[in-house]
Amino acid sequence: MSHNCLLNFLRVLFLTFGLLMLGCQTPSIDLFSGKKMPDVDHEIISLPAPRSVSFSKEVRPILNNRCVVCHGCYDAPCQLKLSSYEGLERGASKSVVYDGARLNPVEPTRLFVDAKSKKEWRSKGFYSVLNESSHESYRDNLEKSVFYRMIQMKQRQPQPRTGAVAKELGPNLNRQNYCPTQEELPHFMEQHSNWGMPFGLPNLTEREYETLVLWLAQGAQTDQKATLLKKAERKSLNAWEQLLNQKDLKSQLISRYLYEHLFLAHIQFVQFDKRRFYRLVRSRTPSGNPVDEIATVRPYDSPGVGALYYRFVEESSAIVAKNHLVYKLGPQTYKRWKSLFYDKDFQVTALPSYDVDQASNPFRTFTQIPA
Ligand code: HEC
Repeated sequence: MSHNCLLNFLRVLFLTFGLLMLGCQTPSIDLFSGKKMPDVDHEIISLPAPRSVSFSKEVRPILNNRCVVCHGCYDAPCQLKLSSYEGLERGASKSVVYDGARLNPVEPTRLFVDAKSKKEWRSKGFYSVLNESSHESYRDNLEKSVFYRMIQMKQRQPQPRTGAVAKELGPNLNRQNYCPTQEELPHFMEQHSNWGMPFGLPNLTEREYETLVLWLAQGAQTDQKATLLKKAERKSLNAWEQLLNQKDLKSQLISRYLYEHLFLAHIQFVQFDKRRFYRLVRSRTPSGNPVDEIATVRPYDSPGVGALYYRFVEESSAIVAKNHLVYKLGPQTYKRWKSLFYDKDFQVTALPSYDVDQASNPFRTFTQIPA
């Protein structure tokens, strides 16, 4: 259903039922537990002219300002990353990223890297925080959304404007997150009615709250578009990829060295928009094709494929200070790389293997590159 269509539907719905329900905060009974749940915000949905809310222009700035400070990193609470639409769509997980008592490694869950679709994330234990049923009524979209219930709780039980925050909301390194699924919400809301979002911080403003609620009610869609590169930008990006994908042994070893060092970098092309950043990745596909990233935990792990290509992918998540390691690529870096590597006279007779004993030791792997 398109937004306009949905809006008209909402208007008719409002005219028919809205007036009856307006202002009455009757609790609805949850089907799973029989517990009473607060009703949804009809008064927001039934605004005389509810506008169609844009994810990129209205919702994303609120998430960036109020949520990504906690929900922006790999170890975000409940692994819920709100730094991009894809993270929000992926949803949450009860597995913790860091667990000092864990004896065996677990599969990593890096957004954009370790799974490529919503379906794949569901198979890795992530559950939705939005309404994922086929129903499209605004009531379903709100009632069945963990996201909505978490912000509604805070709205219903606002943060006191003076005095210390409640003890269980204060800083605590050992806090166990509950991470309720939709089914567990009634119990959670009853037990922890002051744990609404943003957690332990001042409430969203009325306007921010209203925007999020309308957007959720309208089906929580994205209107985000991929960045269109200007011709000169595309040319420059291609030139860097060409440099890193030369076939002679010496260039291949240099590329591997550069890649392993830039594994965590946010690369900034000096001629591009200053707020745009890229990651250097190993891909199954060469330049000119969509990047198919080879997901490995460490940069020196075997890529497990015959041919690999070094490619740049745009970092589309909100930038947060914790993991923002900037490396600039431009004429100056090119000059430096040339003098350090490409113009140096050295021979590479054979490429080192990805055998872990060899690959994990850079002194052995890159021994052919002069100090
Ligand atoms: C100060 C840090 C902090 C901020 C800011 C914050 N959150 Fe949270 N969030 C948490 C914590 C901690 C939890 C886990 C609570 C629990 O389950 O015990 C959580 C859990 C959630 C969950 C539930 C996930 C699940 O698995 O059930 C949602 C949804 C959520 N947050 C949304 C938001 C939104 C939307 C914002 C911004 C408006 C926000 N959060 C801001 C700390 C924060």
